[in-house]
Amino acid sequence: MGWNDWTREVEIAPSLYAADFMRLGDQIEALLAAGCRVFHVDVGDGQFIPPITIGPIVVQSVAPAIHQAGSRVDCHLMIVEPERHFEQVREAGGDSVTFHIEVCDDVAAAVARARQLDLGVGIAFNPDTPVETVAAFSTEVDLLLCMSVHPGYSGQPFLPESLDRLERLRELAGEDVLLQVDGGIGAANVAEAHAAGADVLVAGSSVFHGGDPAVAYADLVRIAGCRTPARAGARAGRAR
Ligand code: DX5
Ligand code: ZN
Repeated sequence: MGWNDWTREVEIAPSLYAADFMRLGDQIEALLAAGCRVFHVDVGDGQFIPPITIGPIVVQSVAPAIHQAGSRVDCHLMIVEPERHFEQVREAGGDSVTFHIEVCDDVAAAVARARQLDLGVGIAFNPDTPVETVAAFSTEVDLLLCMSVHPGYSGQPFLPESLDRLERLRELAGEDVLLQVDGGIGAANVAEAHAAGADVLVAGSSVFHGGDPAVAYADLVRIAGCRTPARAGARAGRAR
């Protein structure tokens, strides 16, 4: 499923990596009730990033309830040979995959494979990867993901240079592609990151580690200035 016909002007995407897995179902239900439409699943393999995190088995458990509410499961693949796992993600109920350009030898083939499986598709890039490298693919994908921490762990501080990188990326990539930002997003920077060009803002510890996740989510939505319809016009032609 593509993104552009679906996304509001801003989406806050809670990262399940930071959830309390003893209470995962309750936390997701509360977030759905609060209006959450995108859940971010951080898949890590212990190779591209040091830790092994979560993967399709968790997607399989959570996807039915998320889909029933009309929301979606977005999988951030921090793994080597990402395209090998697209089918498993799809079968588990994932709606979209975002893979890292640093570990993809054939971006066009990976994008084509995702499309073939009817997955939304994005390309992620690390803080030390030049934005120009990914901007070149802006017309091929639904989304470009600017990492605002070095990938691997929740709870790291936002790298301030990410704001300039988002702005530059938006300039280079134009208006027709969604920009996602991931890492260290919270009440202090969510509005700035949106203003710099991010449409989908991932939030892990700021949603799950501060008390009630639904309240934290709603605060981020309010601060970011959410609740407006999808950017009209500019993206209308790209609905897929
Ligand atoms: C980092 C992950 C992020 C992380 C975000 O490697 O890709 O999605 O879970 O967590 P916070 O918001 O706590 O930085
Ligand atoms: Zn992530």
